[in-house]
Amino acid sequence: MNNFLSVNDVTDVSALVKEAIQLKSNPFTPNVAPSKTLGLVFFNPSLRTRMSSQKAAQNLGMNVIVMDVNQSGWKLEFGDGVVMDGGTQEHVKDAVKTMSQYVDILGVRTFPGLVDREKDYQEEVLQQFVKHAEVPIVSLESATLHPLQSLADLITIAEKKIERPKIVLSWAPHPKPLPQAVANSFLEWVKLTNAEVTLACPEGFELAEQYTDGVKIQHDQQEAMKGADFVYTKNWSSYADYGAIAPELPWTINKEKMALTNNGSFMHCLPMRRNVVATDEVIDESLVYEQALNRVFSAQVVLKRLLS
Ligand code: CP
Repeated sequence: MNNFLSVNDVTDVSALVKEAIQLKSNPFTPNVAPSKTLGLVFFNPSLRTRMSSQKAAQNLGMNVIVMDVNQSGWKLEFGDGVVMDGGTQEHVKDAVKTMSQYVDILGVRTFPGLVDREKDYQEEVLQQFVKHAEVPIVSLESATLHPLQSLADLITIAEKKIERPKIVLSWAPHPKPLPQAVANSFLEWVKLTNAEVTLACPEGFELAEQYTDGVKIQHDQQEAMKGADFVYTKNWSSYADYGAIAPELPWTINKEKMALTNNGSFMHCLPMRRNVVATDEVIDESLVYEQALNRVFSAQVVLKRLLS
């Protein structure tokens, strides 16, 4: 593995999930990388990704350097050949090449603008890091994908040991426009397992075809949830009418809807707006904290692979 940007960097998803579950039973192995350093660069807020990546690195004996670019860094320029006499102070090329002198692996979080679809889906910021880095790059959630989250989600599902689980990825309401990254990525990963996958979303909130290809799409949420073993819920803004949010729709997951499932488990990557995305009683009986815990082992197995 040279970088970890998407499921395409993984040759065998099932083997990676198994290795992560093994690590979980004996996570503290500080002899693996005692002289190595992980750099974490955040353009956007984070709780789980920040803390779980640090914990994973520490489990392997690594040092960690965290940089909140927008708060404590110079304003970066991304354009090539730009005469930098405006608001930007440092070119991304110089910043990334410099960071590469200090760290052995570099993680980057960069959300989409949700205005220009083409620009977001080209992953301009992440690709600039890949282009200029002299060390492996790990996506800590990019404009379109969140692979560390998806790997943690697959670990959580695998731990339930259901032969061929029925998984529903359901859209949920949210007052602000959110990225499609978690949902895109979840589909990309789960499609490589033997699960039966359904995408439930209101009309106009289908995801990009490259992710939904081969996935059953239903616009009736409750019909889709019937017999499900897992209901993975997430809001995302429209891909078709890029960045648009939905008017208020009755898509909040509640106890009555969960009763339609096969005693199914509710999943969400967090953070989540309680009683908007799902009701308190659903969240309090869910797998969300198990998913959050598994973020450590998802990061740890990826760091270990990149170091070897
Ligand atoms: N799920 C997730 O990535 O959480 P954070 O945004 O808090 O890192």
